[in-house]
Amino acid sequence: MNISDRLLRVSEMVQKCGTVADIGCDHGYVTIYLLKNGIAERAVSADVNKGPLEACEKNLRLEHVSDRAKVLLSDGFKAFDAKEKIDAAVIAGMGGRLMKRILTEGEAIVKNVSQLVLQPQSEIFLIREWVRENNFHIEREEILKEDGKYYFILDVRRGSEKEEFREVYDSFSKYLIEKKDPLLIEYLRRGLNNNLKYLQGIEESRQGRLLHENALINEALSMME
Ligand SMILES: C[S@@+](CC[C@H](N)C(=O)[O-])C[C@H]1O[C@@H](n2cnc3c(N)ncnc32)[C@H](O)[C@@H]1O
Repeated sequence: MNISDRLLRVSEMVQKCGTVADIGCDHGYVTIYLLKNGIAERAVSADVNKGPLEACEKNLRLEHVSDRAKVLLSDGFKAFDAKEKIDAAVIAGMGGRLMKRILTEGEAIVKNVSQLVLQPQSEIFLIREWVRENNFHIEREEILKEDGKYYFILDVRRGSEKEEFREVYDSFSKYLIEKKDPLLIEYLRRGLNNNLKYLQGIEESRQGRLLHENALINEALSMME
């Protein structure tokens, strides 16, 4: 099984646990890695589409872990049995807005997990905001670059820590800013340059959002000097 660096880093972020839920499991690579490496004892692999779920089921069989994994056709956590104890959940490779909906609608399950490993592809601020407001906290975060694209992976644990709200932290990660992460600096500088190029070609009335984003990028960069 060929697992990408992104999925490897997502999987390695999961703490040793009893049952893990892999939401939007697709091919099932994360589930398989977690079971084969003794990170999770059991898994529920869920996907809203039949095609990916069938591929997942086949891969679980090929990798000899199907006896420890249940596949579930489910929109987020909707088809989960509320009585089933889920210790950790992985949600990777979806937009932040969809991920936020899944977390919100799955409250009955989500409120009892010890860990969430989240890898939103877009609008990541929505997820950092959800974490702050829902009795969870970000234990650590990773940024990685694969095939020229940047990805953020959040290790989220239960229990809130009194966090001050700062837009710059929701936008670009308090953890990575305080760590002065070199890849975050690269990501921000690239974002700033792209925005500056883009700004030259658009009318003044449409520049507001980009100017605000640039101000946040500069704030984050100055915190890392
Ligand atoms: C781009 S793939 C990501 C697969 C894998 N998690 C990864 O990170 O490589 C997104 C998967 O999420 C599934 N998906 C989309 N919306 C979903 C939802 N509401 N509930 C469960 N699965 C969903 C899709 O069918 C697809 O298999």
